[in-house]
Amino acid sequence: MNEVNLKDKTFEVFISDTEIEEIVHSISNQINNSGVKDPLFIAVMNGAFLFAADVMRNITISNAEISFIKLSSYEGTETTGKVDELIGVSDDISDRNIIVLEDIIDTGITLEKIISLLKKEEVADIKVATLLFKPDSYTKDIHIDFIGKSIPNDFVVGYGLDYDEIGRNLPHIYKLKN
Ligand code: IMP
Ligand code: MG
Repeated sequence: MNEVNLKDKTFEVFISDTEIEEIVHSISNQINNSGVKDPLFIAVMNGAFLFAADVMRNITISNAEISFIKLSSYEGTETTGKVDELIGVSDDISDRNIIVLEDIIDTGITLEKIISLLKKEEVADIKVATLLFKPDSYTKDIHIDFIGKSIPNDFVVGYGLDYDEIGRNLPHIYKLKN
């Protein structure tokens, strides 16, 4: 399938499943060789679920653990409105070596929130791994330790990434057709 229609839009294949597999192997090897000890991987839901599963299968570091978080916004009781919170970090993660697993980093706003929330938990170290990165869109100074592939500012879908919550099941990554 070179093209796919999701709701009102047409997408074309951009990164094939075989290329995704190569990227996953490469990033997993980089993590394995980074010297990180007893890592706690934290996968950011929903988009990173397939990436996280595939990376974990390739991790050979002793005592590797994985947990899942979701960033939620809710209407605060104060006048300020929306407050961000991490759902899922219930255990004590202080003094852990964290590796955040993201599907895509665009502006970096989400990543910045995740990092500041993790820092409040007094973790020992935070590293960031992302399948995709949009450098032209990135506005933050946070170092991204492991990047699968840098891409232009196209909207992409598939392999966990969604368009309006659909398309996550697609085995390839597609980009919006102009
Ligand atoms: P950021 O906060 O701007 O870095 O955006 C990060 C989040 O926006 C990602 O975790 C995705 O959920 C979503 N996102 C950004 N770009 C895309 C895209 O091209 N396709 C699907 N979701 C995207
Ligand atoms: Mg996401």
